[in-house]
Order: sequence, then C-alpha cells, then structure tokens
Amino acid sequence: MIYLDNAATTMQKPDCVVHAVAEALTSLGNASRGAHDAALSSNRVIYRTRAALAAFFGCPDPSKVIFTNNSTEALNIAIRGTIGEGDHVITTCLEHNSVLRPLYLLQEEKGVRLDFVQADRKGCIRYEDLEDLICPDTRAIVCTHASNLTGNVLDIERIGALAKRRGLLFLLDASQTAGYFPINMEETGVSVLCFTGHKSMMGPQGTGGLCINGDIEVKPFKVGGTGVQSFLTSQPEEYPTRLEAGTLNGHGIAGLAAAVDFLTRTGIDRIRDHEANLARRFYLALRGIPEVSVYGDFETGERCPIVAMNIGRVDSAVVADELFNSYGIAVRAGAHCAPLMHKALGTTKQGAVRFSFGYFNTTEDCDAAAEAVAEIAQGGE
Ligand code: ALA
Repeated sequence: MIYLDNAATTMQKPDCVVHAVAEALTSLGNASRGAHDAALSSNRVIYRTRAALAAFFGCPDPSKVIFTNNSTEALNIAIRGTIGEGDHVITTCLEHNSVLRPLYLLQEEKGVRLDFVQADRKGCIRYEDLEDLICPDTRAIVCTHASNLTGNVLDIERIGALAKRRGLLFLLDASQTAGYFPINMEETGVSVLCFTGHKSMMGPQGTGGLCINGDIEVKPFKVGGTGVQSFLTSQPEEYPTRLEAGTLNGHGIAGLAAAVDFLTRTGIDRIRDHEANLARRFYLALRGIPEVSVYGDFETGERCPIVAMNIGRVDSAVVADELFNSYGIAVRAGAHCAPLMHKALGTTKQGAVRFSFGYFNTTEDCDAAAEAVAEIAQGGE
C-alpha cells in the first residue's frame, strides 16, 4: 500500500515509538495510584513527557501541559473551559468540526455569539476581516493553524499579536501543524494550544493535549479520580490534575515521548522539507492534468503537505476507491469534517480527494500517485 493519508494519521511510526509503547504496555502501572515501582515508572514517564512537550511548544510551565485522548477533547476543554455566557467569539471558515461543534454547542447552551472570518475560493482569509469583527464583548479568537482540507496555513504570529493588542484569548487548534512547524506558544501569544499526538507528531492515537500559557483559568471539563486529594468532593484546583480526571494513557504517552525525541533528533525542519518537497512535486504533476482541479493556495511558501483535488465532476469517493482498489493508494475522500471550508471551495456535494504526505513517503510514492491520477482522469468523465 502507498499510504498518503498522513493528515488523518501518520500510520508509519518511527521504530522508537513502537518499541516505547510495547515496553510501556508490560512495565507501567497506574500513575499516582501506587507507590510501587510500576506506578512510579508511569509517573516518571508522564512527568518527563510533560516537560518535553512544554519545551517543544514553548509552554512556560510543564504542569500546564494537560494530556487528553486527542485534540477534539483538548479543544472541548479549552473552549468550554474559557468561554461562557455573554461572550463573543471569532473563528474562521477553515475550522474542523472539533472547533465548530463545541462553539455551536456554546451558542445553543449559553448564547455565545459567533462570527466567522470568511474564506475565498482558494481557502484564504483576510486578516483585516478578523480585526473588523472584534467587538467590546469579544472574548476569544479560536482558530486552526492550518486547514486539514487544503493545507493552507494561517499566520499565527499575526493573529497572536492582534489578540494580545486587543486583550483577547487566542485558542489554537494545532492538530495539523504540531510536529510539522515549530511553534513557540509564548513568543506567538497563543493562550491555549491544542494538539494531537498521532499526526505529524508521529506518536500513537489516543494521545494529545493542551498547553496553557500563564494564568489563564480553564474550568474542568470532566471530574473524577485523580489519585490525590481523594476526600475532596470537588476536582482538585491544581494543574494538571484539575483537568485530568481518570487514568491517563500512560502507554500512549510513553510512545509520544519517544516521538518527541525522534522529532527533536531528526529535526522538524528536515522532516518538513522532505514532506513539503513531495507535496510540491505532486502538485506540479497534477497541474499538468487538464481534468484535475486542485484546492488551496500554492502561491504562499508555508503550507502543510496536503494536496486536495477532484477529477472533473467525479465523486471524490469514487476516485479514492479507484486509487485504492486499482493502485493500492490510500487517501481520504468525501467531506473532511470541515463543512464551512467545503462551502467556500464549492465542494459540498463532490467532497475532495485529499493526498497528504508523511516523513516515510518517497518520491516514488508521489510519482506513482500522480500517474494513477492521470490514468483515472483519462478514463473519467
Ligand atoms: N482530522 C483528521 C483528518 O483531517 C482525522 O483527516
């Protein structure tokens, strides 16, 4: 199989990640639930991973690195824990449902007002529009760092500076960019960064988290066992316990620690160069196929290694099935949990075929995919 669905999850993991999970599975006890070696080993792994992630994302305080099962959970905690009645929120049409649905729920339950920065046919926004939407009751800008559909990247330095200047929270969905672009949340002015471990971080599924910058208060989303302060009737106040009820995914976190090590040792600039070159090469090959429409902005230098396209008016799912069944190429098709982005691109009915490159892909993978698209296009409508 040629795996080109890395924006959904990086399926090929570094060996060190596989070994770390395998070792953790048979050696870790339950962190904070015992004083024996196995439980303490789990505490140590989790503590070290918090510290490594804090350094990786420029989070000033490792105890404000909170582990979750994925970025959806992190975004629910960040959004519901900081935004409430009477607040106005600005977001964009690039968002994934993991941002949109928690916001729509707040709109319904608490009357939170939402405004969306529109995107053009290439999936780009105007930053002036973002600033124009700020009102006296605006509490937060909540947005993705990059569209999971087009790969377009938002200028988070600019958004962070604006949020800081106007006294707003800046909640960032870094699902598609954590591990791909360097992010220093303190320098960028990100209030809460939400990430997943299983995409460009190259860690296991079931890992992710949020990093909180400074004294921002985030209300608990769930409450329960923490292994400490058991006689309190409420969730302990201190971070990270405040936001981490229940047994953590120690096995996954051990894998995530190995993944952060791998990224640091290999160098994310080197990883990004490789993936960006593959995506560019693929994009240039597609441009020569008249039946193909490619979505997104390929003029700007910085983008995620994603190429979303369609062949004529053929349903994207039909193309993806053909790619897999006849060529063994795995991609994602249909809607990509990004309804407003599809509306902006005009692909609500057709969906889009998304190719996304990873560190373990080769130029041969890329060329085989381009050839397959050319052949399908010739046989298509
Ligand atoms: N959010 C993931 C994707 O874009 C799953 O495919």
